[in-house]
Amino acid sequence: MGAGTCSSRTDVKRCAFGRFSTPEVQTPTLKPVDRSEFQEALLQQMERKTHWAWPAFTEGLVGKDKLHIHLEQEWEVYVRDFPVLVGRAYVQCPVPEVRRELAENIYEEETGGIVAGKPHPELFLEYPRGLKMNMERFARVELLPGADQYRSFLDDATTARGWAVAAAVATLFIEGTAYERHELDDLAPARPTAPLEEHPLVKHYGLPLECLALTKAHRAVEGEHRKAAWKAMLDHVPIGERTAVVEVMAQAVRAWRAYRDAVALACGVTRKTLSLTA
Ligand SMILES: [Fe+2]
Ligand SMILES: [Fe+2]
Repeated sequence: MGAGTCSSRTDVKRCAFGRFSTPEVQTPTLKPVDRSEFQEALLQQMERKTHWAWPAFTEGLVGKDKLHIHLEQEWEVYVRDFPVLVGRAYVQCPVPEVRRELAENIYEEETGGIVAGKPHPELFLEYPRGLKMNMERFARVELLPGADQYRSFLDDATTARGWAVAAAVATLFIEGTAYERHELDDLAPARPTAPLEEHPLVKHYGLPLECLALTKAHRAVEGEHRKAAWKAMLDHVPIGERTAVVEVMAQAVRAWRAYRDAVALACGVTRKTLSLTA
């Protein structure tokens, strides 16, 4: 990262958004920001995309009889409609270069025509199918209250607040992870990628390896989607809209964490569950 960016710990303090790298500080200060401050503010929000209960899902602590709740809620809250969420950013965007990237993203997610070979939402269903879950449930999922609120937030952010906010939420927040800094800085830690045999659904729940087609496709294509998402944000979001974009990312973190709290509760995961394994 070049000089003048606010990527280091000390520089962070000078960012116009203020410092909000700790979980307690959730609302950025709204001031005009330059490109590097904007980048740092977005990164700090993405670094908050973590949840206390996640280890229960990756370490097999969620009961086999409860795991379907997690997959059903993910499906209904964003997976099934993900290409549509990106499409909402596309139709609002006046920047041809960004639209082309969004169109490519939508095409791959909706059809798998570039890498996956099948629509990504369809490939997601290979997880519950491979785990012998009742597939009828996926046609009539009732969202948990926290999930319903998160979905309402996603709908509002992708339809009512302009292309920049829609693209930030759909392509940066939903598709992105707490390891986004690596996309912009090789020295920052990359998202850990274990061999497919070590995938939690395979290792702890007996999912056949061939049902990991979506995981494989994401490993092949997601790098491009990350790059395009960051380029759209940093090169094309008008200066006057940067504060609104950061604000919506902070809202996204809050709504997503409340959603994951609801799923954890419904899956019988408590902080005590996790402390027993610590
Ligand atoms: Fe995807
Ligand atoms: Fe993607």
